[in-house]
Amino acid sequence: MKVLGIETSCDETGLAVYDTERGLLSHMLYSQAKIHAEYGGVVPEIASRDHVRKWVNLTEKCVAEAGISLDELDAVAYTAGPGLAGALFTGAVAGRVLAWTLGIKALGVHHMEGHLLAPMLETPAPAFPFVCLLVSGGHTQLVKVDGVGRYTLLGDTLDDAVGEAFDKTAKMLGLGYPGGPALAKAATRGSDAAFAFPRPMVRSDDLNFSFSGLKTAAITAFEKVNRDPASIDDIAASFELAAVDILAIKCQKALQQENMNSLVVAGGVAANLKLRALLDQKMNAIGGDLFFPRLEFCTDNGAMIAHAGALRLVAGEYAGDEVVVQPRWSLSAMTPPI
Ligand code: KG4
Ligand code: ZN
Repeated sequence: MKVLGIETSCDETGLAVYDTERGLLSHMLYSQAKIHAEYGGVVPEIASRDHVRKWVNLTEKCVAEAGISLDELDAVAYTAGPGLAGALFTGAVAGRVLAWTLGIKALGVHHMEGHLLAPMLETPAPAFPFVCLLVSGGHTQLVKVDGVGRYTLLGDTLDDAVGEAFDKTAKMLGLGYPGGPALAKAATRGSDAAFAFPRPMVRSDDLNFSFSGLKTAAITAFEKVNRDPASIDDIAASFELAAVDILAIKCQKALQQENMNSLVVAGGVAANLKLRALLDQKMNAIGGDLFFPRLEFCTDNGAMIAHAGALRLVAGEYAGDEVVVQPRWSLSAMTPPI
């Protein structure tokens, strides 16, 4: 089954063709980051308009690169949530109209399920069950994954998501948008031992997270040195170390609690090299298995949507006539494919 995947939940227009027999045939991404950088964050209306502007051209290119024609597609999968309502609608409507015209099925995909299953696009792919650390701009969750749609939430953030904390701290340090990659870059030039930032909740009995205290500590440190530009790289490095430390400690606790040794990390923050290195070291030490998507499939992309959609479409699941998007949509609400 050949599935066209469409991702438009935020500020990237992602397209891909995934074949359940041959794997990923093509993928394409257009990032609107430069447009939003001027405003210091994503402007929803601009995001929606730009998805509409880019979609036809990207789809044509992506299908051509897959070496097929449009009428060889068997189904269309589009991100139906969570995300920005207007942006989601652009991809949902485009995908549904295309499917309708081609006389094929369509399915709305849960964006976080897309992220969570993205490491399965790699070789070796993780096998169920595993513990997944889902870290993005809006989510910081530990999830026990027993199969597609079989998710048990083990831990969640009580305030900011870790990606959000990276973004807000970067903005405060004047590093611009998108903040996570900018902060990580500054961190490579600084000393991670320069500031001793807190690691909130690492000693709590549960698997929940809190990042707003760490963000505030970084802001306070910057104010204390009178916003001295020479301190930026050190604050960035110390913040990054504290953030990835917290994530690694909670991952280890989750594996212990569930008596498992397979860890999957996905979502935009999984692209953080310090996090990848630290988890690699920790998993090596305990003889566990660690899986990440390749860097470009950590952040938003069409491949993860085509892939997650295909796993459900091939099982016979598809959407009804009404085009529905769910800007808020909990991963716990997901069920196995029908
Ligand atoms: O998954 P994603 O592309 O979009 C959402 O679903 O939210 O994740 C975006 C988040 C942003 O907060 C961004 O700053 C963060 O991932 N991010 C990073 C890095 N690359 C992206 N955070 C830390 N280090 C990075 N290298
Ligand atoms: Zn995402």
